[in-house]
Amino acid sequence: KCSSLDLIPVIDSTNQFLLDRVGQLPQGAVCLAEYQESGRGRRGRQWLSPFGSNLYLSMYWRLDAGMAAAMGLSLVVGVAIAEALQSLGADDIKVKWPNDLYYQDRKLAGILVEMTGQAGEAAHLVIGMGLNVAMTEQEGSDIGQAWTNLTQACSHLPERNQLAATLIRRLYETLEHYENVGLDGFIERWNRLDNFLDRPVKLLIGERVVEGIARGINSQGALLLETEQGITPYVGGEISLRGC
Ligand code: ATP
Ligand code: BTN
Repeated sequence: KCSSLDLIPVIDSTNQFLLDRVGQLPQGAVCLAEYQESGRGRRGRQWLSPFGSNLYLSMYWRLDAGMAAAMGLSLVVGVAIAEALQSLGADDIKVKWPNDLYYQDRKLAGILVEMTGQAGEAAHLVIGMGLNVAMTEQEGSDIGQAWTNLTQACSHLPERNQLAATLIRRLYETLEHYENVGLDGFIERWNRLDNFLDRPVKLLIGERVVEGIARGINSQGALLLETEQGITPYVGGEISLRGC
């Protein structure tokens, strides 16, 4: 459905590229890069984006229901990508609340949803995904946490164009579906893929650390943490989950 195909030699961030062009983009417009000069994660953190080794992909989506409906979108996208990778032969792909994909307890991909728009109007979303495909130990040596790549997770690595096309198609279909049914259709699927379900975890909330057992997500997409006080839902972008 894209109206044009541009080839650009250098890009800072595929998310930024689309955010800068929000008024001119058709629904589902995609920016796909071989390399990003300033790939980013949540809260300004860096997303390491070496040349040619990985997939850096963003999609524009206008959400008529507005910004509030965008809550939980990274969960939905996580399910879509995990299922798409499994359909391509990757086994045991997991999700980590709120925006990561994991394989064997290591970070395989990250999702970054950014938006512009006014309260009460349509939200303009950019959904970005960084998927490690063949990043080497050396290329990823600056990453301060355990990570992996699709080469480890797949016995037969799909061809790059097939991988990108499958993810783009799945993402588009998932966003359309999400607009019709909301989070409801995804909760059970997310919980089935949850890397930390029934495992001890800690939540980093600013300076505060809360420990407990992860019990999946509720119908609002909040993380459920069981402590001696019972089960408490946690929402909001300022929370980080870590395994214990
Ligand atoms: P949170 O639970 O808050 O999301 P996070 O550490 O996963 O925590 P993000 O903002 O989601 O933080 O992702 C950015 C982080 O991901 C970086 O700080 C770095 O540790 C890690 N990272 C950066 N590039 C890559 C990459 N290519 N593959 C895997 N991990 C990466
Ligand atoms: C995270 O784990 O915090 C999310 C990382 C998201 C990285 C992708 S790569 C494509 C898109 N462009 C960016 O600058 N970030 C996202």
